[in-house]
Amino acid sequence: MQLREGSYFIQNQKVTDLAERFGTPLYVYDGEKIIQQIQSIHQAFAGIDLKIKYACKALTSLAVLKLMRKHGVDLDVVSPQELQIGLRAGYAGNQMNFTPSGVSFDEIEFAVEQGAFVNLDNLDVLEKFGQKYGSSKPCMIRVKPNVAAGGNAKIMTAHEGSKFGIDIRQKAEILALVEKYDLKIVGLHQHTGSDVKEASAFIEAASRVFEFAYDFPDLQCIDLGGGFKVAYKEGDYTTDMEKFGAELSGFFREFCEKYGRNLQLWFEPGKYLVSECGYLLVSANVVKEAPGRTFVGVNSGLNHLIRPMMYDAYHHIVNASNPDDSEQDVYDVVGYICETDNFALGRTLNKVKANDILAILNAGAYGFAMSSQYNSRLRPAEVLVLNGEAHLIRQRETLEDVLRNQVEIDV
Ligand code: LLP
Repeated sequence: MQLREGSYFIQNQKVTDLAERFGTPLYVYDGEKIIQQIQSIHQAFAGIDLKIKYACKALTSLAVLKLMRKHGVDLDVVSPQELQIGLRAGYAGNQMNFTPSGVSFDEIEFAVEQGAFVNLDNLDVLEKFGQKYGSSKPCMIRVKPNVAAGGNAKIMTAHEGSKFGIDIRQKAEILALVEKYDLKIVGLHQHTGSDVKEASAFIEAASRVFEFAYDFPDLQCIDLGGGFKVAYKEGDYTTDMEKFGAELSGFFREFCEKYGRNLQLWFEPGKYLVSECGYLLVSANVVKEAPGRTFVGVNSGLNHLIRPMMYDAYHHIVNASNPDDSEQDVYDVVGYICETDNFALGRTLNKVKANDILAILNAGAYGFAMSSQYNSRLRPAEVLVLNGEAHLIRQRETLEDVLRNQVEIDV
């Protein structure tokens, strides 16, 4: 979003015009930003056989998936439904890897039938996979390297107490099953966590996976997951992709040399690709003065963007209706849900009046994707701005959507 000639723009679209044309609350995604993020990873890993597998749980809208596909990005999916949405977006089964957590074996079978790569995350499922497919189907193993990193405890996935993956110390058990069923392990996977600040944590996790990998002679890829950090706050740390790429590339080359073959390197970013492209546009319903504080009540809440409440996440907020920063005030920006759903407390904003449009930034990842119909409220519409044009990519819900699937009975 840029401030030009007294107005905020997403590409060439005035933010307040988008709000007027499509209504609020509204999710808006800047497609150019997504493309830039994809390119920055490829540039950082130039010379490496790299594949990006977008963790589409972050934002699963078909238009976004099609944009990813157009730009050579494959998918990481975590449910049969995400896999089917991927197919609907034009992906072939083998362009997707299925990385579920503790699912029933029929979900694994479904993914295999669709031709997806499956990441097996426990010894039980590895055994079942062996019994059913033996060496006839390739599979991947998700390991847990016991590295603790991530923006907060709820989004760490590779530490010792985490439920994810097979503990790297259980190598002997894994190898016994590989031998027993002649399993064809074509990839090893690990995912450190989300919002990981220290590049050193990725390197540490990678080194543990590389060390682990020498006993698996059929590997075609190493999948190091996602978790790159984006800046939610001004001055916040962002993964320095160029520096990280240079460091990890060298390390990966060394590993491949020692392994004896060039492997493909996979990453599964979600946030890095789609967080910054996204804005949640909301309207100020009310500006309420109270002793010692001023509330701005907006037409949205934890039903549309749960991150501030769930993770105490900071999301920057801009008053898109008032670019004049000569008059500012301190506000509590609060949602309309019957819970304490604060978007921001004690936040300095350019003076807000009722009906102003506020833009909540970094809302692309885990925004709409985690939205709900709580309080029987409707989910917002979504717009993708691409090549200067604003496309409606999801309609606002109606009451019919809220009532759908309810079965009315006489009582
Ligand atoms: N790969 C796997 C196996 C994952 O579990 C995840 C995220 C990713 C990749 C992508 O991570 P990312 O690049 O987006 O950090 N709802 C939370 C984040 C949960 C992440 C879950 N797994 C949030 O809003 O911060």
